[in-house]
Amino acid sequence: MSVKSVGIVALFGASAFLAGCSTYSVGSAQVASRPAVSVTAPSDAGVAHPEIWPAYEYPVAVQSDDEARIASLLARMTLEEKIGQLVQADLCCVTPEDVRKYNLGSILVGGNSGPGGNDLAPAPEWLAAADDFYLASVDKSDGGVGIPLIWGTDAVHGHSNIIGATIFPHNIGLGAMRDVDLIQKIGAATAKEIRVTGQEWTFAPTVAVPQDFRWGRAYEGYSSDPDLVASYVGAMVRGLQGPPSNDDLLAGPYVIASTKHFLADGGTDDGVDQGDSSISEEELRDIHGKPYGPAIAEGVSTVMVSFSSWQGKKMTGNRSLVTGVLKDRMDFGGFVVSDWNAHGQVEGCSNESCPQALMAGIDMYMAPDTWKPIYEDLLARAKAGTIPMDRIDDAVARILRVKGRIGLFDAGKPSDRPYSGDYEELGSPEHRAIAREAVRKSLVLLKNQGVLPLEPGGRLLVAGDGADDLARQSGGWTLSWQGTGVNNSHFPGATSIWSGLEQAVQGAGGSAELSPDGTFETRPDAAVVVFGETPYAEFQGDREALALDPELTAPFETMRKLKAQGIPVVALMITGRPLYVNPALNDADAFVVAWLPGSEGGGIADVLMAKEDGTPRFDFTGKLPAAWPRTTQIADGALFDYGYGLSYASDASEWAELPELDTTELAGDSRLWFSAGAPAARWSLLVSGGEESDQIRITNVPAEILSGKATVTAENYLVQEGARRFAITSGLARTELRNFDALDIDRETNADVMLLVTLKVWDSPDSARLGAIGPDSEGFVDIDLPVTSDYVRYGIPLKCLRENGADVTNLTQPFVLETQGQTDYAIGEVRLGSDAETVLRCG
Ligand code: BGC
Ligand code: BGC
Repeated sequence: MSVKSVGIVALFGASAFLAGCSTYSVGSAQVASRPAVSVTAPSDAGVAHPEIWPAYEYPVAVQSDDEARIASLLARMTLEEKIGQLVQADLCCVTPEDVRKYNLGSILVGGNSGPGGNDLAPAPEWLAAADDFYLASVDKSDGGVGIPLIWGTDAVHGHSNIIGATIFPHNIGLGAMRDVDLIQKIGAATAKEIRVTGQEWTFAPTVAVPQDFRWGRAYEGYSSDPDLVASYVGAMVRGLQGPPSNDDLLAGPYVIASTKHFLADGGTDDGVDQGDSSISEEELRDIHGKPYGPAIAEGVSTVMVSFSSWQGKKMTGNRSLVTGVLKDRMDFGGFVVSDWNAHGQVEGCSNESCPQALMAGIDMYMAPDTWKPIYEDLLARAKAGTIPMDRIDDAVARILRVKGRIGLFDAGKPSDRPYSGDYEELGSPEHRAIAREAVRKSLVLLKNQGVLPLEPGGRLLVAGDGADDLARQSGGWTLSWQGTGVNNSHFPGATSIWSGLEQAVQGAGGSAELSPDGTFETRPDAAVVVFGETPYAEFQGDREALALDPELTAPFETMRKLKAQGIPVVALMITGRPLYVNPALNDADAFVVAWLPGSEGGGIADVLMAKEDGTPRFDFTGKLPAAWPRTTQIADGALFDYGYGLSYASDASEWAELPELDTTELAGDSRLWFSAGAPAARWSLLVSGGEESDQIRITNVPAEILSGKATVTAENYLVQEGARRFAITSGLARTELRNFDALDIDRETNADVMLLVTLKVWDSPDSARLGAIGPDSEGFVDIDLPVTSDYVRYGIPLKCLRENGADVTNLTQPFVLETQGQTDYAIGEVRLGSDAETVLRCG
């Protein structure tokens, strides 16, 4: 294929292109790509055959006293109490009083939740909340048995919801380091930090084996290679839970783990989050099933089931896999939890009702905001006898068995347990040292024309928009769900890449200058340019092409300029995945992949900066955990194979200039609909007086439109002319963004994502409505637009638009701002996200 056409292919459907090729190599595994030719006949599509799966033995000994206690509890529990154990509510939507009344078995804290509605609450408030909920759960004043609840959290790279905790590199970076012992230490340090704030359960490790890095959660997996992932899982589970013989976890520095997401979360077609995997049962077993063996061998306490489906059937409703394979064949003896309202996606189910999940083998429903209807639905069905009592008893017994194993019945309230309130353990020097070692070992060197290691005594310029940004180097699932809305002040004790380099240079008597755009006063001896992806998490990170979003490529130009002045350039890339970045690879003299290193940026300086005698302090040992693409599609082949990585011992080889593609037209960040003064690629900015016929597409400003009733001009916002200002003299006016393809934002809507609109208002309209329009539907919400002295980022929950009639699966104008009367306002940005400054009410 010619280089020129690649951008076009990426734009107009990768699947059509992929259809032409049958296999490509990922790691050591030869993996068939789409379309998979399945041997399974359509009639039994999505039905697994447990007998062809490996059998294991769950090593956790059943304690006779625990079993006696479980039997006695089951005998005394009311049906209501039993059903309560099966339900997990999110902190967003549950109170201790609810837990007392409904005997809920568990609570969780989702990425954007926190004690008292504050996901950035200080650590002591988490422990206080843990006590409140615990005490409510064991309250027996209503005559119940009072079973203590457990609290789950996404501590996926350290205790990553807590300010001040050690943030370890995300799993993809750990995959690059190939160090099983360090994995166990990371697990142990994470468990101890979790215990400080009183939680008992982490939704980790993610054991996905990502096969298509367009998937926005690929960085949560260690590698594309099932063997590498499998080699880590046991160590991580052991670090978190202690050995399988450990039957009193809460007495030591441990928590229970959850391997997720069962199964083939990393195997969906085209890397679509929560999508369908059409692979054969053999591939399902040999690639995605691999890590579950070592997890079970280590006695993992819980397994979380995937949102995704296999051969068209949602995992959450797949009895052959959840019960047949996982529980029966693999002998998994813990309990199975579903994912965030994932039951609502099972065929025939809704968020409020889904007995199918229980019957498939789910023991605990993660029903964040739907726990009450789920509870009532299960209770009514149990009373009517339409769900069997033995399935309920089995699920309750599994949950109680895990609670017994951790010693929960005798542990007392969270603040009385060991490690609780030991706040000095959060981000302790010992834990930060482990993280820093992991950062050092995860760096992958792709190019070095002799510029590295850097002489520490000279003048170093540190450029690039990612150099001094702890949120950026930490990625998604850090303090907030998508990793957005936080800044350096939220990371006390952490070290940014810039400050790590600065400390190393200054310690050696040199000088360092931070300059994001690469301009300088005194000519440096060398420059490090830090660039790459910005934080994202579930599905907001999905892309059509493996390329850096066009709006993030400005540092390429910085590298070019520095190089033109004869300054040696080191490119340092922050990224959750291998991406096409040939311009940077060509222009920089050295290229280092840092992945998402987390809070200990000092580990980067450790490897980049030489000792005073010019020899390296630490060598590069990291190897690619997945193949690096030659173009924006991995199907075009690997530029660097799985396992590639240079060291200081490697020869500085000649660099053959790589072909550069035009990626400016790539769709880029699908969350960003309008920014830097322009709509996203293939989107249009339109203004009308409310009629299709008078609709004007705004390309150039200033523009006078609607028969002189409106003028559109440019305003500065973030960048020069980064906003569009609309001055309207009277009547109805509509400003809207129209997308080339109809948009489906159903998943985002279910996940509490908002439409974020950044506005400055000089003159308020008489009235205003914000809405979304599809071919056959529309949904509007009335809003106030007060005069503001600066730009304000308003958020409207997508749910409001749906509630008011918008068909969120099919939107052509997903953003419409309609005003009545004279007004004057500017739009700086329109995007999806969760970091609103002011949340608008549904109306
Ligand atoms: C994610 C899980 C996570 C859960 C709780 C889900 O949307 O898929 O990985 O553990 O939310 O935050
Ligand atoms: C929560 C996440 C959760 C996601 C589900 C968000 O609102 O904060 O924890 O994983 O929804 O898609």
